[in-house]
Amino acid sequence: MNKQTIRDIAWAGKRALVRVDFNVPLDDQGQITDDTRIRAALPTIRYLLEQGANGVVLMSHLGRPKGKVNPKYSMRPVVERLFELLPEADEVKKTEAITGEAAEAAAAMLRPGQVLMLENTRFDPREEKNDAEMSAELARLGDVFVNDAFGAAHRANASTEGVARHLPAVAGFLMEKELAFIGGALVDPQRPFVTIIGGAKISDKIGVIENLLGKVDALLIGGGMANTFLLAEGKNMGDSLLEPESVATARDLIAKARAANVQLLLPTDVVIADAFSAGANHKPVSVNEIPGGWRALDIGPDTVRQYRSTVTSAKTIIWNGPMGVFEMEPFAVGTRAIATAMAEAADAGAVTIIGGGDSVAAIEQAGLADRMSHVSTGGGASLELLEGKELPGVAALNDK
Ligand code: 3PG
Repeated sequence: MNKQTIRDIAWAGKRALVRVDFNVPLDDQGQITDDTRIRAALPTIRYLLEQGANGVVLMSHLGRPKGKVNPKYSMRPVVERLFELLPEADEVKKTEAITGEAAEAAAAMLRPGQVLMLENTRFDPREEKNDAEMSAELARLGDVFVNDAFGAAHRANASTEGVARHLPAVAGFLMEKELAFIGGALVDPQRPFVTIIGGAKISDKIGVIENLLGKVDALLIGGGMANTFLLAEGKNMGDSLLEPESVATARDLIAKARAANVQLLLPTDVVIADAFSAGANHKPVSVNEIPGGWRALDIGPDTVRQYRSTVTSAKTIIWNGPMGVFEMEPFAVGTRAIATAMAEAADAGAVTIIGGGDSVAAIEQAGLADRMSHVSTGGGASLELLEGKELPGVAALNDK
C-alpha cells in the first residue's frame, strides 16, 4: 500500500478524527448481534491513545437512515459496547451531534486518553452526497483524519472521502491490513492462486470474475450462480434459480477462462430438493440428471471432493459467497466443506482470505474464523477491491 498510515504521524498534541465502520447488525431490541467490526477497530484506537493523541473522535454510519434522525440507528449501543471493549480509555463519551458547535465543543474538551463518538453520520442528509460543507465541518473536529473504515471505503461520503481533502489523511491499522491481504493476493499471490466464488447471482459477481480471470490459476464456482453457468453449458436445471438474461455472460466468461488458461470449475453434481425448504426431500444427483420440479440447493459430494482437492493444494485462496443455501442445514454441507478445506490449507501455510458477508457468516458458524489468514470486515468494499476498482476512501488518503 502506498498510502500513509497512523505510524507516519507524531500524535502527541494532535486530535485524531477517525472514520470507523461500526455498521454492526442489531436485533429487534436494538442489541448488537455481532461486534466484530468494533473489535476490528480497537488496535487503531488503542495505538492513538498510547501515542498520546489529544483525544480520539470517532465517526461512523449505522444502517441506512437516509439522512434523517432515527433513534433505531443511534450509535448509543455501539458506544456502550466500545466502552466495555476499551477499558484502557479514561473515558468513552457520546455526543448527539455530528458537526457544528456542539460537536466542536465536545471535541475541544477531549484530553489524551479520551474517546468521543459522534452520532450516526447518515443522520445528516449531506453525508451520502459527499457534501463539501459537511466535510469541512467534520474536519474542524480533529487535526489528522484517519480512515479505518475499510467496510465503507467504497462509499465516497463526506466522512470517508470529502473530509480527507481538508486534513492530513492516513490509513488506520484495519484499513492497512485489509488492503495488504486482499490487495496483496491480487497483486503478488503465492501460486497456485485459487478463488471460490458463490452466492445467488452471476450478475453481482461478473466484475469480480472478469478481474480474477486475469490473475488466478483456478476459479471454483458454486451457489445459485453456478446454475446459470450450467444452463449455459446446456444442462437441464429443472426448477433451479436461474438468470436466463445472464446465460450469454456466463458463456462469455467460460470462453475467457479458456483463453486465459484458467481452470474454471463448475459443479459436476448438486444436491437437489423438491421444494425450497429445509424439510424438502433432497438427494445428490449428477448435473446431467436434474429432473423437472427439483432444484439445485448445494454442490454435491463429487464436486466437494474436487473443490476440496483444488483448495487444499493452493497457496493463496480467496473465498467469496456460499456454495449453497447454507442457512438450511441439509444444504450447508458444501459451504462447510469449503470452510474446512480452507482451514486445512491455512494450517498448511496457505494465505486464506474470506471476503463478503455470507462467507464470513458461514466461516464463523463453522467456528473456523480463527484459522483463516484474514476475514474481511468489508462486504461491498471487498467485492469492489476484487473487481479491481479503486476505493474512494483509500484514494483520498495521503500518498507515502
Ligand atoms: C457495509 O456494511 O457493507 C458497509 O458498512 C457499507 O454500508 P452500506 O452498504 O449501507 O453503504
